Amino acid sequence: MLTCLASVTAASASDVEVLHWWTAGGEAAALNVLKEDLQGQGISWNDMPVAGGGGESAMTVLRARVTSGNAPTAVQMLGFDILDWAGQGALADLNAVAVKEGWDEVVPQALQAFAKHDGKWVSAPVNVHSTNWVWANKSVLDANGIDVPATWEEFEVALGKLSEAGVTPIAHGGQPWQDATVFDAIAMSTGGPEFYKAAFVDLDEDTLGSDTMVEAFRRMEVIRANVDDNFSGRDWNLATAMVANGEAAFQLMGDWAKGEFLNAGLVPGSDFLCFRFPGTQDQVTFNADQFALFDQGGDVSAEQAALASAILSPSFQSAFNVVKGSAPARTDVSDEAFDVCGKQAIADLANAASSGNLYGSMAHGHAAPASVKNAMYDVITAHFNGEFDAETAAAELVDAVSIAK
Ligand code: GAL
Repeated sequence: MLTCLASVTAASASDVEVLHWWTAGGEAAALNVLKEDLQGQGISWNDMPVAGGGGESAMTVLRARVTSGNAPTAVQMLGFDILDWAGQGALADLNAVAVKEGWDEVVPQALQAFAKHDGKWVSAPVNVHSTNWVWANKSVLDANGIDVPATWEEFEVALGKLSEAGVTPIAHGGQPWQDATVFDAIAMSTGGPEFYKAAFVDLDEDTLGSDTMVEAFRRMEVIRANVDDNFSGRDWNLATAMVANGEAAFQLMGDWAKGEFLNAGLVPGSDFLCFRFPGTQDQVTFNADQFALFDQGGDVSAEQAALASAILSPSFQSAFNVVKGSAPARTDVSDEAFDVCGKQAIADLANAASSGNLYGSMAHGHAAPASVKNAMYDVITAHFNGEFDAETAAAELVDAVSIAK
């Protein structure tokens, strides 16, 4: 049914209509790399931006479009959402282009798990972001005698020094997906990788309600105590700007934040610093953007195949991800063009994958399906805003997940 509804499209034959949420400066700059690539091939880009970090609003618009029989040609999508649409038969089969170009050999297994359904490629992986990063204003740290903290305890000491000096320690945007992004890192740091997997991937009740989870929520209260009064509802890129201009010291955010620093003309290592959230130096909680191509009725169109092929080309993977802040979605792309944070992202990803330390981000739909993710968002945000104490939050998490799964 969906396939047939999706077969009517607004795009004309040589268009690709692309639904995405890359509206911040750094994101738009990265997207331009793809637009120009396609325009160079004579394919015109019909832009369908839906603002809202994390993509929840974009996914709502997508559902409405598909229901009204007007699916976009290509849609930015994350993790379990891809498998969900593929399971409904809505996505085009990309195997012809994938096999011809040998995607199986170069795309990391962790991404293939979301890009393939029933043995068929259904989406084109663009990048590998990760959520367990901290972004810091270097002069603010230097002025306050703060070194990069290696442990949670050192991080707390740094936060205390900054507060005392009258600097906002953490720039944060109080939106559910941002609260959850912080929680990805806090949970990994508090409980380690086995805890993270048991809680967010396996949805194990004992782990969700454990003392370790209570401790993770307590640490969220420390974060909450170190954000400014106007955090509520703030967009993530405005929080990044606070670090960029020295109004705040740290932001806990995925490496799309780097795209914002670069777009503001700042230099990693001298103007801003990137480091793994203290206590997660060996782990990577990944979030990979992909473009899922909607079935337009019949075979994948020439424009869709061209888009997929352009996305996977090694030169595009380098050019795009240098600007976006992410690592390439192929293992064979040189890190030469990448800055110090990009080189670290690429190396961390390879090390984490080979040492069993690579986990899908809960906050960005790579650990559990959307229903569970949203249930977790509700509890994490309610707790962050003071509705529950840490013990109640852990108990609420158990209940919310058991209802949602
Ligand atoms: C994520 C997406 C990133 C970044 C971020 C903020 O979900 O994967 O590419 O754009 O949202 O918009």
